[in-house]
Amino acid sequence: MRITTVGCGYLGAVYAASMASIGHEVLGLDVDQKKIDNLAAGIPPFHEPGFDELLREALDTGRLTFSTDYSLAADYEAHVICVGTPQQVDSARADLTYVHAAVDSLIPHLQDHHVVLGRSTVPVGTAEALVQRLRDAGVKSPLAWNPEFLREGFAIEDTLRPDRIVYGLPEDPAEAARARKVLDGMYATMLEADTPLVVGNYATAELVKVSANSFLATKISFINAVAEVCEATGADVSVIAEAIGLDDRIGPKFLRAGIGFGGGCLPKDIRAFMARAGELGVTEALAFLREVDHVNNRRRDHVVNMTRKALGGSFTDKRIAVLGAAFKPNSDDTRQSPALYIASKLSGRGADVVVTDPAANSRVHAERPNLAVAEDAYAAATGADVVLLLTEWDEFKQLDPVKLREVVGTPHMIDGRNVLDPAQWREAGWTYQSMGRP
Ligand code: UGA
Repeated sequence: MRITTVGCGYLGAVYAASMASIGHEVLGLDVDQKKIDNLAAGIPPFHEPGFDELLREALDTGRLTFSTDYSLAADYEAHVICVGTPQQVDSARADLTYVHAAVDSLIPHLQDHHVVLGRSTVPVGTAEALVQRLRDAGVKSPLAWNPEFLREGFAIEDTLRPDRIVYGLPEDPAEAARARKVLDGMYATMLEADTPLVVGNYATAELVKVSANSFLATKISFINAVAEVCEATGADVSVIAEAIGLDDRIGPKFLRAGIGFGGGCLPKDIRAFMARAGELGVTEALAFLREVDHVNNRRRDHVVNMTRKALGGSFTDKRIAVLGAAFKPNSDDTRQSPALYIASKLSGRGADVVVTDPAANSRVHAERPNLAVAEDAYAAATGADVVLLLTEWDEFKQLDPVKLREVVGTPHMIDGRNVLDPAQWREAGWTYQSMGRP
């Protein structure tokens, strides 16, 4: 199939290279010339395990090209909208500027036999509005919604071997059949491998995505709320998570208590979902998501308070080492990162904060010049009055407490992700605290 991806950020770039790797002819389009030049030269604009190789291999096949020239889209048949839908600056709603701009830049080049596919995460009702936009411009191409479910850190695996594929098809049977034929062609290898296919209308497909992310966020906040109760009772949240996770109706995943969820998806998606419910007159239906958001924010502030107590009540002249800045390991993404939020709060309160992250150091340096950045955990922890582990990178999980103790000022560890072995750290002479564990 001949496919364009409109938008070459995380989603678009991974999707473009993945689709080329399974045999399609893919053109990645973006308005950012520098990003396009880099991708065309095989230089990924973000850290994603395996993406460097996949990109280079796909470019080598000659099936993957990148351009800022949208008129090239005329020679392709499926156009996949992959642009971001961040939270609006002054409200909880999703900002659809990029989605509208993507469709508008395609419009002059669309032909009747083309199909437009939406992959971005959007508020329910967006696809319907985009069809209107296309029809107002005299475009006859059908539109289908085909949400993505990739996780950063596993983006290639999730794109090439998804848990499920979802089609949101137009109501008109002829249009639906045209869109479906193109989608089936694009995903032929995955469908042949028995990937479950779920088909619904536009609203259903749009809601599948935000429902999935809201459920995941709820699961995390649920266990973090239980962690708060554990802290008041001396119970151990990781044992509770293990025990309830053994019930296969609950399952063990996304029950890791800690400093909560961040990133470019879960926080903004639950807020946009609530905002959309309000517009639709069903505010109450999603009122619980406000609590999910509150629990999440409370865990971050809890770590700031724990740190203040660990330092005897004052941040003045205190050095704090923060291990981790990305919102999760195997990523350099610092959007809505709980680690970076905590580091900035501590620095704002007057502490001398030194951050280190295996992939996000340069981002921290550029985005938060008030924070000192160190090469590795040992450099960050040198002379520290307290050490905070806030992103669970393997290299932090494997730290040797005996060696680290030699460089710190005070051996006090606050493990915001519950990934270290309390007994091992205490035996090595550390005061060890974690989240919802005695
Ligand atoms: C999330 C969803 O998991 C994907 O399915 C979805 O496609 C994607 O958003 C998206 O909308 O594009 P992602 O943002 O990459 O993916 O990150 P997650 O793996 O979901 O982690 C989100 C946050 O939750 C991280 O900060 C992580 O540290 C935290 N988390 C996760 C916990 O605190 N506890 C857990 O048990 C699991």
